[in-house]
Amino acid sequence: MKLCVIGTGYVGLVGAAIFADWGNFVVGVDIDSEKIERIKKGEMPIYEPGLSDIVLKNISQGRLTFTTSIAEGIKDSEIVFVCVGTPQSDTGAADLSAVWEVAREIGKNMNGYKVIVTKSTVPIGTNEKVKAIVKENLPDPSIEFDVVSNPEFLREGSSVEDMKSPDRTVVGSDSERALAIMRRLYEHLNSPIVECDLRSAEMIKYASNGFLATKISFINEIAQICERSGADVSVVAKGMGLDRRIGPAFLNAGIGYGGSCFPKDVAALYKTSTDQDYDFKLLRGVMEVNIAQREHFMNKVLRHFGKNLSGRTFAVLGLAFKGNTDDIRDSVAIEIVKRLRGLGAVLKVYDPQAMYNAKQALGAVNIEYCLDKYETMPGADALFILTEWKEFGLLELDKVKSFLKSPVIFDGRNLLDKEKVENLGFTYFAVGKRTNGLVKIDTRNLYQTVLLNTNGSIGHH
Ligand SMILES: NC(=O)c1ccc[n+]([C@@H]2O[C@H](COP(=O)([O-])OP(=O)(O)OC[C@H]3O[C@@H](n4cnc5c(N)ncnc54)[C@H](O)[C@@H]3O)[C@@H](O)[C@H]2O)c1
Repeated sequence: MKLCVIGTGYVGLVGAAIFADWGNFVVGVDIDSEKIERIKKGEMPIYEPGLSDIVLKNISQGRLTFTTSIAEGIKDSEIVFVCVGTPQSDTGAADLSAVWEVAREIGKNMNGYKVIVTKSTVPIGTNEKVKAIVKENLPDPSIEFDVVSNPEFLREGSSVEDMKSPDRTVVGSDSERALAIMRRLYEHLNSPIVECDLRSAEMIKYASNGFLATKISFINEIAQICERSGADVSVVAKGMGLDRRIGPAFLNAGIGYGGSCFPKDVAALYKTSTDQDYDFKLLRGVMEVNIAQREHFMNKVLRHFGKNLSGRTFAVLGLAFKGNTDDIRDSVAIEIVKRLRGLGAVLKVYDPQAMYNAKQALGAVNIEYCLDKYETMPGADALFILTEWKEFGLLELDKVKSFLKSPVIFDGRNLLDKEKVENLGFTYFAVGKRTNGLVKIDTRNLYQTVLLNTNGSIGHH
């Protein structure tokens, strides 16, 4: 099949490469000419395990080409994928300006029947508007086309594998002709294809991300109670996750979710609910808890070091919003670094893939970019672990202890073994675990320690 993919970012570039690898002829289009030039030269603009090999192979075999022109990209294509960004706008809603822009361009350049497929995450009703915009811009009103909602569920860090073998594929359309074409593209997949109407397809994506974010905030609230009551949230999550109705994924307590999807998608879903005169109370809580987690983490730092951090040097491991990616969009790690620096600290930072992006976001003031994880540590007053890179969980703790000025670790991702760390004499602040020898209760949140006694009366503990 001949395909065009508009927007060659984390979703579009991976999508274009995998579609080509399935034997299709794919043209990738992006407005960013520098990005297109880099890809043409075989340089990946993003870090994704396994991506480079697939892109290079399909370019060299002639199935994958790139251009900055939508007209050229869609000319011979049967299916046109829209994979542009839909960031958060000031109101919390998704900013759909790139989608509208692309819809206009597609419309103007239509030269025959095509299926226009939205892969970008877009709120309910967007695909209907895309249809209207394309129609308004057609050079000849007799040209036929259909619109399909085919939301993407890939995870950065494993997007190549996720694209190749998704858990499910959602294809929303009111056109049997378009559905038949989409079935041909996906027919070899060994997982269910959910065919539905446009609006349900759009909602499936938001409901899925909203639910995953809810799991994270849920375990973070359990962590708060664990920390105060002496249970260990990692053990609790393991015990919960073994229940097949619950599952182990997204039950890692920490400093909260970030990234280019969850924060904006949860906010956009909440905005959709209020636009429909409904207050999605649970989701509001999910967002509040997520912000509270980083505040809680910062409070631990300030209780330990005081509110003025000038003269302090901290080693920071992890800047990406999660492990296995170079993406720092809405990264909680970056925010914590900014907060620590704002209070006077000097930060020595390291991330296996996100150094370039972090430099753009953080600049050079009071930040030293290190080449290796251990290089961050000599003379530091504490070590911070802010992203769940696997290698940070494998630190040689003796070495860490010999480098740090004082043996203090703030583990925002619960990567280390508390018992092991404490036995080596570290003061260890994790999430949802008690810290050895320290006061356990956050007095600012004393109301949370008002418990219902077994005899039914209310008592303060
Ligand atoms: N990143 C993820 O993990 C992920 C997962 C699932 C869904 N999504 C959704 O997919 C969409 C894309 O996300 P992303 O992370 O790939 O974004 P991205 O920012 O990495 O890529 C978007 C690309 O679109 C290009 N673009 C913008 N306007 C354009 C235009 N008018 N013409 C041509 N190209 C244009 C940009 O230059 C950029 O390269 C978003 O809606 C996102 O919510 C992302």
